[in-house]
Amino acid sequence: MAVIISGKELSLQIRGEIGKESAEFEKKYGRLPGLAVIIVGENPASKVYVRNKHRACGECGMYSEVIELAEETTEEELLQVIDTLNERGDIDGILVQLPLPRHIKESVVINRISPEKDVDVFHPTNVGKLTTGNYTLAPCTPAGVIEMLVRSGVEIQGKKCVVVGRSNIVGKPLALLLLEKNGTVTICHSRTKNLKEECLEADILVAAIGKAKFITSDMVKPGAVVIDVGINRNEEGKLCGDVDYENVEPLCSYITPVPGGVGPMTITMLMKNTLLAAEERASKG
Ligand code: GUN
Repeated sequence: MAVIISGKELSLQIRGEIGKESAEFEKKYGRLPGLAVIIVGENPASKVYVRNKHRACGECGMYSEVIELAEETTEEELLQVIDTLNERGDIDGILVQLPLPRHIKESVVINRISPEKDVDVFHPTNVGKLTTGNYTLAPCTPAGVIEMLVRSGVEIQGKKCVVVGRSNIVGKPLALLLLEKNGTVTICHSRTKNLKEECLEADILVAAIGKAKFITSDMVKPGAVVIDVGINRNEEGKLCGDVDYENVEPLCSYITPVPGGVGPMTITMLMKNTLLAAEERASKG
């Protein structure tokens, strides 16, 4: 029987800690840390995510502003909104919810956000800092995974870590964070040969593929720690991860559930990044 790492419970604890730090920040600087979230168009999933981010800000005692723009908003108009937020003293974090409508170029928008307010950690300057280990902000989902491991007492140093998935948002930056914790890291992907054998080597196995039940029990070493980053819907429309949880869980020492695992931690780390960005900006005067 595995220990189930509850992202929901850990998030509650961490949001409590962030709430205290936000209150201290307010005492010191006379304002709350502030996050602006921009959403363009009507994507229903994005709307849910944005609402959750707004709610989390409230829970952490932070200021939050949601800017809802019409689907027809031009790239230039969106860039102007970002410019205004870049200049505002009361806004520490700017997040543009993705995906954007097809007529707006994602990279142009991301590059416009001031790196010091880039709480998603998508700006090339921040990605570069992450690569060299010289950073304040770590991307939210990978940072959430590390926090879950560390707070559960899972040692990373010297462990064989296998990350399945190489996305810019999860797989690649998570590999960097695990490496920084002195893990021995392998990144696997759709072209990897002998994927099963690679996974079987893992002390810590991270599934970030985006395919329901992709990681089956024959791919998991007994006693492994399994982290499931996937958010999929099964045939019945139920939320499920990338791991065949029912059959894999009995093999593991630790496992994260879906829902209630990595998902809530991602938003919690966004709150943490907003606080860190606020402290960094405020300390510079
Ligand atoms: N859409 C899905 N995930 C994310 C994320 O982490 N950040 C942003 N900005 N948009 C997303």
